Amino acid sequence: MSATPPLSATAGSIGASVTLKLNSAAARMRAEGEPVIHLGGGEPKSLAPAEAVAAGIALLKTGEVRYTPAAGTPAMKDAVIAYTERYYDRRIGRDNVMVSAGAKQAIMVALMALVNPGDEVVFPVPYWVSYPEMARIAGGVPVPVPLDKEAYQPTVAAMAAALTARTRVVMLNSTSNPSGKILSQDFLTEVIGMCQDRGIAILMDDIYHRLVFDGRHTPHCYECTDKSVDEAGILVLNGVSKQYAMTGFRVGWAVGPAPIIKAMSNIQSHLSGGPCTISQAASVAALLGDQQSVDRLLADLEERRNQTADLLESIPGVELLRPDGTFYCFADFSAFDADSARLSQRFLEKIQVVTVPGIEFGMEGYQRLSFCGGMGDVREGIRRIRWLLNEDGAPELKAGDRVFTR
Ligand SMILES: Cc1ncc(COP(=O)(O)O)c(C=O)c1O
Repeated sequence: MSATPPLSATAGSIGASVTLKLNSAAARMRAEGEPVIHLGGGEPKSLAPAEAVAAGIALLKTGEVRYTPAAGTPAMKDAVIAYTERYYDRRIGRDNVMVSAGAKQAIMVALMALVNPGDEVVFPVPYWVSYPEMARIAGGVPVPVPLDKEAYQPTVAAMAAALTARTRVVMLNSTSNPSGKILSQDFLTEVIGMCQDRGIAILMDDIYHRLVFDGRHTPHCYECTDKSVDEAGILVLNGVSKQYAMTGFRVGWAVGPAPIIKAMSNIQSHLSGGPCTISQAASVAALLGDQQSVDRLLADLEERRNQTADLLESIPGVELLRPDGTFYCFADFSAFDADSARLSQRFLEKIQVVTVPGIEFGMEGYQRLSFCGGMGDVREGIRRIRWLLNEDGAPELKAGDRVFTR
């Protein structure tokens, strides 16, 4: 029997995704006939815009589905240019755009272009689960900055204290997964200014910037600097996944200074080449379309946010700061168990409800519950949680023909 060849140090430093582990445990239980409620998802369930689907089909039907330039088709770059003008009020050229296989790849390639071994990548808590692992894959050292609970974002002083001579990148995500909170314009202005003074690159993960409720606006980076896209030291990362419900198309993009975009495009040309040609055609149509699907998605999510937040707030002991956007509620369950992974496991085993433990986002005691699935599932999932946590509740709970016991 041959021994398994040793893995690289990088592979050894990358943890298995708890989210994926939860997904496969839930799928296994479902296959066994258990009434699993999945509140761990990260994608809207609405359909991709009709014009995007039609454009993808039209290209596919020609049978001529070829490689595209590594940084994306000219048409897709032009659609991103139009998007940047519309939502960021900045005129850019094609050399300021790289299209990639999802925002995830754009972020990863940006880190590969900017980070040397041992360099520090700074980001606020709570952070998107992939940031620490992406920083490590790029050879960097993740530096999470603790949150100021009052403001639900780190203080500027805490961000400043986290910056060292080794800091190469600051990553910001607004509106935030998991908290659904928007970073304030003051905070962004201060942090961007600090980074610009020190030559630190800023990665703005704007994947949820349009998914905000109550008529709010997510302040964007170019409202916080008077420098041009080429001079600001900022990369804006975005994609079609969330706003157009096009997760499976795998199209994202980066907008930023031409020399960084060029370096990223060179890396991407060897890593994967251009993103899927059919998906780029579909994304052009989504970006240039009438945006009605985004309006509908937003109205639907806002209603779901209201209902989900009301239900969570009705559980004695659960603390929730209502999300301003996204499709997640990030709630404090520490009154019941400070160990979020253990509580999430208990939810899964005892009441077959999947939530994502806060520790995955750098915040113990919290759980993230998604409201992008069916509202029936959300209501039933939260009903089960409420029953499990409150010992004075009904003695047993029926879900279909399943009777749970504490
Ligand atoms: C904060 C954040 N950034 C980036 C992504 C990546 O999106 P995609 O690769 O689907 O474009 C996600 C997806 O969950 C996300 O939540």
